[in-house]
Amino acid sequence: MQHSTKFDLILYGATGFTGKLTAAYLDRHPELTGRRWAIAGRNSAALEAVRATLTSEQVEVVTCQLSDAAAVEAMVQSTHVVITTAGPYSTYDGDKLLGACARAGVHYSDLSGEGFWQREMIDQYHVIAQESGAKIVLGGGVDSIPSDLGVHMALQAMRLELGDKESKESTSSIQVTGVYTKYSGSFSGGTLASGKAREAAIKSGRLTREALCDPYLLAPGTQRAGKETATLDGMPHKFRYQKDKKLGVLLPFFMGKINAPVVRRSLALQNLAGDVTYRECCSPGMWLKVSWLYISRGLGFPLGDPINFKPKSGQGPPKWMLTQGAFTVEVTAQIPDGRLTKVVVSGKGDPGYGATSKMLSEVALCLLNDHEQQPSNGGVLTPATAMGNTLVERLDAAENGTFMQLYVV
Ligand SMILES: NC(=O)c1ccc[n+]([C@@H]2O[C@H](COP(=O)([O-])OP(=O)(O)OC[C@H]3O[C@@H](n4cnc5c(N)ncnc54)[C@H](OP(=O)(O)O)[C@@H]3O)[C@@H](O)[C@H]2O)c1
Repeated sequence: MQHSTKFDLILYGATGFTGKLTAAYLDRHPELTGRRWAIAGRNSAALEAVRATLTSEQVEVVTCQLSDAAAVEAMVQSTHVVITTAGPYSTYDGDKLLGACARAGVHYSDLSGEGFWQREMIDQYHVIAQESGAKIVLGGGVDSIPSDLGVHMALQAMRLELGDKESKESTSSIQVTGVYTKYSGSFSGGTLASGKAREAAIKSGRLTREALCDPYLLAPGTQRAGKETATLDGMPHKFRYQKDKKLGVLLPFFMGKINAPVVRRSLALQNLAGDVTYRECCSPGMWLKVSWLYISRGLGFPLGDPINFKPKSGQGPPKWMLTQGAFTVEVTAQIPDGRLTKVVVSGKGDPGYGATSKMLSEVALCLLNDHEQQPSNGGVLTPATAMGNTLVERLDAAENGTFMQLYVV
């Protein structure tokens, strides 16, 4: 980041459903008071309308088409950090923005859950970002921060409990399991479009059948550990149900296929992939809690704000759900003799939107303000490997500790 910059931070895609929520959170964030930042996107009138809803005097508008390489380059050169909510990234020229950041040494994060696109970005830009020092952070929202930081904390706690010597001897085979016990929320037009982008990628061959069952999709070259299942979520093939002595009843979790490969990239980047395996699932209680939220609020009809089950671009969960939703993941690391450490990561707000918009904003501020205490390497990274404990502490403290809790049990 040697160039002279105009902005500390640019939020691209600020006109979308998640983008507007992110802009609103940044607008009221005390760390941005008096600092110059910008909302960006492709349509200046829509951006001006978003700016009119914000109170900060320092916020500016940047209009930029992602198909215009020179304009993207100039925008990226004008800031220290870029975050983007303009997805599906695989169809909206997301590679142009990420690539420009990687080349310029500008830190970046997004909300992509399109694993095949994330892999393309790793193949194209990891080495370039290592050379420039840019931290390109995959999975900057609820996919995949709670899982990734939960595993990071559980392994750290296990090392502390076992001590250095025993740690080396006993931790050559650790099974880590993330069990979502709460995930109460809904979905947006952009998320539906991302699902369609993935289907299109399968049809066109951009996402191969082989990649669909490669646990190390995001950690190319990693050897699968002995007993590890060849699925993205790490659960058995055609998994439906399992009773685990220590963890109770386990069911498939629909985000496991997105989160687990990100966690495995963290493990691979720390040379832990051969020793630690990760799988992700949910408890039956998770389904009971989300059903209760829907039923007890009458799907939002009595509130005059019903859940939209066919949202278009710019639309998402109703206002009440943005605050009344919530998520919890329990991450357990277990060594062969049965000893385990457990971490809980939980938060308030619809996971994908109310909570994700805050997480992505805190990632941006972490990259901007906390860099002296962070791992210093650039590359196409993950929340845990780019920011580690600085992000744990920041999220735990956000909104005076009322937003997220991250702790060892
Ligand atoms: N990982 C997570 O935790 C998580 C959570 C929530 C959402 N997401 C992802 O976040 C993304 C956004 O979701 P959303 O519901 O907020 O989407 P949305 O409301 O449809 O917003 C999409 C944004 O992209 C912009 N855009 C559309 N086409 C573009 C193009 N060709 N070039 C540049 N910008 C373009 C739109 O600008 P205009 O206003 O000009 O159309 C808008 O700002 C999706 O990929 C979704 O899957 C991930």
